[in-house]
Amino acid sequence: DGFRLPGKRLIVDTIGWLVIGTNRYRHLAYRCLETIRANYNGALASRFVLFTDQPRECPHPWVDTIRVRHEPFPGISLQRYRHFHRNAERLAASTYLFYVDADMEFVDVGDEILGKRVVVTHPAFVNTPAVECPFDRNPHCRAAIPMDHQGPYFQNCFQGGERGEFLRMSSRLARRIRADVRDGVMALWHDESHMNRYMLEHPPTRMLHPGYAFPDWWQGFPYPRRIIGVKKSNQELRAD
Ligand code: GAL
Repeated sequence: DGFRLPGKRLIVDTIGWLVIGTNRYRHLAYRCLETIRANYNGALASRFVLFTDQPRECPHPWVDTIRVRHEPFPGISLQRYRHFHRNAERLAASTYLFYVDADMEFVDVGDEILGKRVVVTHPAFVNTPAVECPFDRNPHCRAAIPMDHQGPYFQNCFQGGERGEFLRMSSRLARRIRADVRDGVMALWHDESHMNRYMLEHPPTRMLHPGYAFPDWWQGFPYPRRIIGVKKSNQELRAD
């Protein structure tokens, strides 16, 4: 998807793939990035960015590393938007930014994912009435969603969009999450709750089906496997 300016070199749009892998999640993150590299088959160039506490350990020379501090779950997940916001300058070269959970693997992904604000519907709540979806309902929380909201409920394991949009969302959510923490409030599903709230205010321009968040061990789930969640032991991974 490049275009040529007269006398200039080819300019190619780039997707920046953002993965966080600190502590024990490191190895999952390397694997995740390998599968993105192998199975993203769209036309854009890729840039791979790993947020990690041990940047020198990364075995892949094609991955850019950004050092972040490890925090036990859910801190590390909750801080993602702050990491993106703080490193906005280092992400500025990408046309699109997509965040992928370290325990996901790409199977078959192309440029159908591109859009201004892109989310994936949560596989566990495809046919769940919105009132029963796990939106945050605590009026003291900045992620709270009114009962009359019609959904759907989105999972935050895969999300992205145009760089400017994604970074604007990251900066807003980083601020809200910090304010919540200062007030001693924790959203029901952490950063996922805040993302759902943001999407109520700024509706997604592309909603991907839950085959982009397919739990690998689910049998008979009627969606094509585009991105799978691999089974992991949260107990072991989140031990420290
Ligand atoms: C789980 C998932 C969590 C969160 C939750 C919402 O299946 O592992 O990350 O999305 O659903 O209920």
